Amino acid sequence: MTKKTVSDIDVQGKKAFVRVDFNVPLSSKDPNANITVTDDTRIRAALPTLNYLLDHGAALILASHLGRPKTAEDRQFSMAPVAKKLEEVLGRPVRYVPEVMSEAVKAAAAALQPGDVLLLENTRFDPREKKNDPQLGADFASLADVYVDDAFGSAHRPDASVDGAAYAMRAKGGPAVAGFLMGQEISALGIAVDNPPRPYVAIMGGAKISDKIKLIENLLDKADKILIGGGMANTFLKAQGHNLGRSLVEEEALPEAKRLLEMSADRLILPVDVVVAAEVSNDAPSEVEMVWAISPDKMALDIGPATVERFNAELQGAQLVVWNGPMGVFETPQFANGTNQLAQMLAGMVDHGAKVIIGGGDSAAAVRKAGLTDKMTHVSTGGGASLELLEGRQLPGVVALDDK
Ligand code: 3PG
Repeated sequence: MTKKTVSDIDVQGKKAFVRVDFNVPLSSKDPNANITVTDDTRIRAALPTLNYLLDHGAALILASHLGRPKTAEDRQFSMAPVAKKLEEVLGRPVRYVPEVMSEAVKAAAAALQPGDVLLLENTRFDPREKKNDPQLGADFASLADVYVDDAFGSAHRPDASVDGAAYAMRAKGGPAVAGFLMGQEISALGIAVDNPPRPYVAIMGGAKISDKIKLIENLLDKADKILIGGGMANTFLKAQGHNLGRSLVEEEALPEAKRLLEMSADRLILPVDVVVAAEVSNDAPSEVEMVWAISPDKMALDIGPATVERFNAELQGAQLVVWNGPMGVFETPQFANGTNQLAQMLAGMVDHGAKVIIGGGDSAAAVRKAGLTDKMTHVSTGGGASLELLEGRQLPGVVALDDK
């Protein structure tokens, strides 16, 4: 990586403002419920950086957003449950101030001793966060001696705690560096952008192509083949003239789908069969239909066995695989086979020396559900951030950091 990381600077006796991505799933949306963190993957992913800083004599001021609150009144997005979970996984006390920026926050930061950890309230409770307000950025920087960004999942958001605070730290003469997770994510995903080992096969799924047109275009430039599954395949199939019954199709994206099909020659590989049902329910009777014979009253909800076989054949010999988006409605077990079989195939490929990178979001959740996270070369903690990186874009949270 071309950016400095925490191991390039001296942190002994310093206070570090660390932007983490603790935007984690919660057990309830009810502010009066006893809300808990249901998946601590993102908290654990920050541990190498947090422990390194603590072991090297720093005190930590941690900041993250959580969900998309409209105002600070949306208490269901409070960081209180995160503070509790962090204390548990870090194995040391965490001081939590239920405010983003205030005299109380400044006093708590000023009182920190080496080894202490302070967690601030959800940065999005302050409306200045999303506006990248320079004063808020400067106030964050004023709490500490060094700025560390380990929030890969938020690196595509030019917010005050991601962008403004890094520049404000540099303006006051302090370093702004990456954490280990940030470094690891950039290196792992960067392989697919800069110098992919070949053959390179990308697998794309998920509901919509409208979110991923840029990504598919960029992949057509970089990858040798792109396998398409999930809801987005329906739109491509319709663009090819198939009748998709009651399947989800993005009508407004049909011209783009046609254009991508024309661009791709034979490098976009679409399903040949799908699992269909009349409703998205585990109890609904389902069957396999060829894509040219989908019943008018049915919906395509997963890729079928012939498609799994075709994808398997296309993956043989690949040296790099990047996967983003599930192959079907994997949250419903009846329609999770395609996604699970793909995850199994990819795990087997890693055993045979291929690099397999999972691009975050739903595909990371599917791999986790299948118990195969540790089998993959890299499972990104970023959803939108990993997509933007794979699109070949510069991420503001990375650009803002000191060069080596
Ligand atoms: C994510 O979960 O992708 C990141 O935390 C960013 O969240 P956001 O899409 O609400 O900005």
